[in-house]
Amino acid sequence: MQIKTAEFVKSSQKWQECPEPVMPEYAFIGRSNVGKSSLINAMMGRKDLAKTSGTPGKTQLINHFLVNENWYLTDLPGYGYAKVSKSLRKDFEKLITNYILNRKNLVNLFVLIDIRHNPQKIDLEFIEWCGESGIPFSIVFTKLDKMKPNAAKENVEKYKAELMKAWADLPEIYVTSAEKKEGTDEILRFIGKTNEF
Ligand code: GTP
Ligand code: MG
Repeated sequence: MQIKTAEFVKSSQKWQECPEPVMPEYAFIGRSNVGKSSLINAMMGRKDLAKTSGTPGKTQLINHFLVNENWYLTDLPGYGYAKVSKSLRKDFEKLITNYILNRKNLVNLFVLIDIRHNPQKIDLEFIEWCGESGIPFSIVFTKLDKMKPNAAKENVEKYKAELMKAWADLPEIYVTSAEKKEGTDEILRFIGKTNEF
């Protein structure tokens, strides 16, 4: 899919404040600092459409972007950010889960995982919650450029094996680097395929 236009629409504190759900929507979620905002920028071919930072917890609101004037791309706050208080973390979790459960036009959720790490409990639990809640999702590995190709492949296989313990079918899996702009076309192709335009 060719990106003709991409514009910031609004930041919302809760799902009720999000733009009218009149267009198909695709959202990016994952731990703080995993690279959600960076991948959105890479997909859009823009440097700082979504704000990125080396410090986790940069994105704290639900950010909507309108692409090609006919679908929404959503940058969500990260989950599991250890440096905020427990109650604030709970607030973030509620904001995220409420958005996911209530957003009627959400076509697919992209769950981002840092390719460098072994399967982490918090991600596995989140994926399990998505499955149990009937949320359509895909898995997107990030920061591929930070690993040697063979080690990266090994980690993806490790992850698949972990998922297969709990699920009969694997979700769609993408391997990406925002830095090198790898894997972004595949995600855009998927969005184009699952969307009527
Ligand atoms: P929060 O908004 O805090 O939840 O973080 P985020 O998931 O949006 O992460 P963000 O895109 O802000 O990126 C976090 C850090 O990782 C930044 O320093 C990015 O430059 C870096 N980063 C993101 N993607 C990549 C990548 O593909 N390769 C490399 N080398 N660095 C990346
Ligand atoms: Mg962010």
